[in-house]
Amino acid sequence: MTLSRRGLFVGGATVGGAVLLGAPETAAAAPQLWAQPGSLGAPPVSGLHLQFGADASRQAVVSWHTTTAVSRPRVLLGTPEGGFGHVVSADTSTYRDAKSGTEVRVHHALLDNLRPGTDYIYAAVHDGAAPELGTLRTAPRGRAPFRFTSFGDQGTPTLGKLSNGTYVNDNLGSPYAGDVTAAVEGAAPLFHLVNGDLCYANLSTDRIRTWSDWFDNNTRSARFRPWMPAAGNHENELGNGPVGYGAYQTYFTVPDSGADAELRGLWYAFTAGSVRVISLNNDDVAYQDGGNSYVHGYSGGAQQRWLEAELAASRSDPDIDWIVVCMHQVVISTVDKFNGADLGIRETWVPLFDRYGVDLVVSGHEHHYERSHPIRGQQPNDTRTPIPADTRTDVIDTTRGTVHMVIGGGGTSVPSNKLFYSPAQCRVITAVGPTDPGTGKKPPIYVLEDAPWSAVRDPDHAYGFAAFDVDPGRPGGTTSIDVTYYAVTGPYATSTPVDRFRLTRPRRH
Ligand SMILES: [Fe+2]
Ligand SMILES: [Fe+2]
Repeated sequence: MTLSRRGLFVGGATVGGAVLLGAPETAAAAPQLWAQPGSLGAPPVSGLHLQFGADASRQAVVSWHTTTAVSRPRVLLGTPEGGFGHVVSADTSTYRDAKSGTEVRVHHALLDNLRPGTDYIYAAVHDGAAPELGTLRTAPRGRAPFRFTSFGDQGTPTLGKLSNGTYVNDNLGSPYAGDVTAAVEGAAPLFHLVNGDLCYANLSTDRIRTWSDWFDNNTRSARFRPWMPAAGNHENELGNGPVGYGAYQTYFTVPDSGADAELRGLWYAFTAGSVRVISLNNDDVAYQDGGNSYVHGYSGGAQQRWLEAELAASRSDPDIDWIVVCMHQVVISTVDKFNGADLGIRETWVPLFDRYGVDLVVSGHEHHYERSHPIRGQQPNDTRTPIPADTRTDVIDTTRGTVHMVIGGGGTSVPSNKLFYSPAQCRVITAVGPTDPGTGKKPPIYVLEDAPWSAVRDPDHAYGFAAFDVDPGRPGGTTSIDVTYYAVTGPYATSTPVDRFRLTRPRRH
């Protein structure tokens, strides 16, 4: 065994940063693959991923994680033509997982003053580790065409737990959690919206392994384009952070919303072209007890006050045409025996979406695909049934109402596409009962409503993602977003379009 300058080298062939062990030093041992530590035992750059800043045309963040301390985490930044010309130091955020006691360190390099609509190359590195490479394209400035994509409820495609001699997935994942990532990368969006329930770490034996698996699976896309998340109920982990989102808040550096430090990163907004994207955390307002702990009302109204100010500012901004909300739990759902819609969201967010004319809501939580007609206003009943403003399904003028999409087929082992009510109805969680001592959860109280707002449902496919192609149109005319929902039906990113429609609205100028 010799210790080379690059790390531990054990008499085998080096293959892509790994060392293949074999004869003669290891004698009768079967060949095996070893991760090659860097010099001085430095951990590798793991889980490399991007986020946009508040102005996606100028700001981005490069992030990766380790479980041991590293020296001089930094990003080398440049352009394809000019090479790596700049060095940007990374700041390290930490959390200690309450279940394992392990501390996770996430290194975030904030890139600012970037040029709009420009391709960059970068390398993330810390002392003793091999640099990991990625690319970034900044958003266009002003009105320009671009694509974004979205899904929620992914899990991981990994078998990380050994149970009775068999390797199993213990975080609700399936092989499709890998296929959807390949499909999104194949669509090459400017950014991808992740509608909550990222990896279900709060269900797994080893939360940190599960988060690491999620980033390992997605870095093949998220290092080339920001995956911008919304926190779902399965990001709520007992004992992690003041509300339970300590892991989520540490892994991601999203645009600052001005929230108190303990709530930072749970809601935020950013601008790409003429689209304002607003990401919310619905556990604050939903009645359902869906996380590791019941945190309904945790922000004391702070998120709602921020949302109203954000919506007012966005709608009065002459450079913004579209307001897109990314959130987890849903306003609409027409499946039985799953979660259902939540009255809490209808009571708090929906009146604001109406007042400020939100165009589109992408959500998850239900593990299938469906969408609503444009909805505006609510019936004066116990569930505040949304009122469809129009029933045309191919071209939708979103000045008439907000279209809600449920895109929860990101890869879990428990799809809900076989559970649709026929005809469409909706179970609405209107309250919760007292904590059940057997489960430790507050049971939901359901009211069933008719669903005149239901537009399109896909009972045939469990998995998929949506692509959104923004066309800025011409001055004085209309702008549009062409939406395609693709079912992902197998490996190699096999995708089939199953729903297409167009959103339109007049340009601001
Ligand atoms: Fe989920
Ligand atoms: Fe969920």
